[in-house]
Amino acid sequence: MTQPEARPTSVAPADTSLPADSALPAGTAPSASSSSSSSTTTSTASAVRVDSVSRVFGRGTSQVVALDDVSLTVAPGEFVSLIGPSGCGKSTLLRLVADLDQPTSGTVEVFGRPARQARLSREYGIAFQQAGLLPWRTVRANVELPLTLSGTGRGARRERVDHLLDLVGLADFADRFPDQLSGGMQQRVAIARSLAEEPSLLLMDEPFGALDEMTREHLQTQLLRICAETRAAVVFVTHSIPEAVFLSDTVVVMSPRPGRIREIVDVGLDRAGIAPATAVSTAAEDAVGDDLRTADAFVDAVARVRTALHGDLAAAGGSATRAPAGVDQR
Ligand SMILES: Nc1ncnc2c1ncn2[C@@H]1O[C@H](COP(=O)(O)OP(=O)(O)O)[C@@H](O)[C@H]1O
Ligand SMILES: [Mg+2]
Repeated sequence: MTQPEARPTSVAPADTSLPADSALPAGTAPSASSSSSSSTTTSTASAVRVDSVSRVFGRGTSQVVALDDVSLTVAPGEFVSLIGPSGCGKSTLLRLVADLDQPTSGTVEVFGRPARQARLSREYGIAFQQAGLLPWRTVRANVELPLTLSGTGRGARRERVDHLLDLVGLADFADRFPDQLSGGMQQRVAIARSLAEEPSLLLMDEPFGALDEMTREHLQTQLLRICAETRAAVVFVTHSIPEAVFLSDTVVVMSPRPGRIREIVDVGLDRAGIAPATAVSTAAEDAVGDDLRTADAFVDAVARVRTALHGDLAAAGGSATRAPAGVDQR
């Protein structure tokens, strides 16, 4: 597995009784930073380093400045959410990191290399709002696809897919077709597929956006467990404040167009109860998730993100209790 090598020892969990190969609980990674000069906490390269990036679409009167001078650092293993009103450039930023688009100015590096190189060496796992499964392939064949394309042998593919389907709780559904699954299950297949090549960086654009609230919360808890196991860094786009806080070490709050980083909120939630081991029951996991969502640290971080999002409204004398358009506070 392409692991981020030395995870900084300064952020190791206090509980040293964890076995050496046990994944660290989420929430212990160093914070993202909007300053490109403050990434000295890691001895290895940052997972993502966005430096003074702007992206301008179109020209003349139809010109849209989607991103304006954005700088951001994500540490290996860190979970970072991007949140902000509709159209503030979240997806644009994610696409730049994914090398699906190029900045107008500035640079994007992934594990110390240009994004293009990282993409070519398959550092990424990508999942979007639509699961995007191939309807004529079984669940197994969908998850297997990236491995088939990269020439992984049949035996290794089978083993890897078995593991991934276990990880997302779909071992019994390997031979079903996508249209035989619920929306939540399809999204879990998409997540399994995104993990197929053991990415060290997961890029997710509102992957739970089309799901009902209960399914969504359940998948959020599962995603945390998966991340604790894979130790991948994650850049996660959402328009839900609670979702961002629940999942993230760090929430990057963006401002309306031109998209800029308004504030970086360090969440500091103790997620040690969500273990990487798969032995715990789903119900027990959900219960831990429920506890986290009512913890003081959670409520406090939700309030901080909300305040950051409302910066402009408050400054204009507006109500600080209303969310900007496109941001879900539930
Ligand atoms: N390919 C494109 N061509 C022209 N404008 C675009 C393109 N992609 C995004 N935009 C514009 O850039 C702005 C940011 O879009 P986007 O990143 O999708 O926002 P978000 O994901 O935060 O809702 C929007 O005004 C959008 O219309
Ligand atoms: Mg978007």
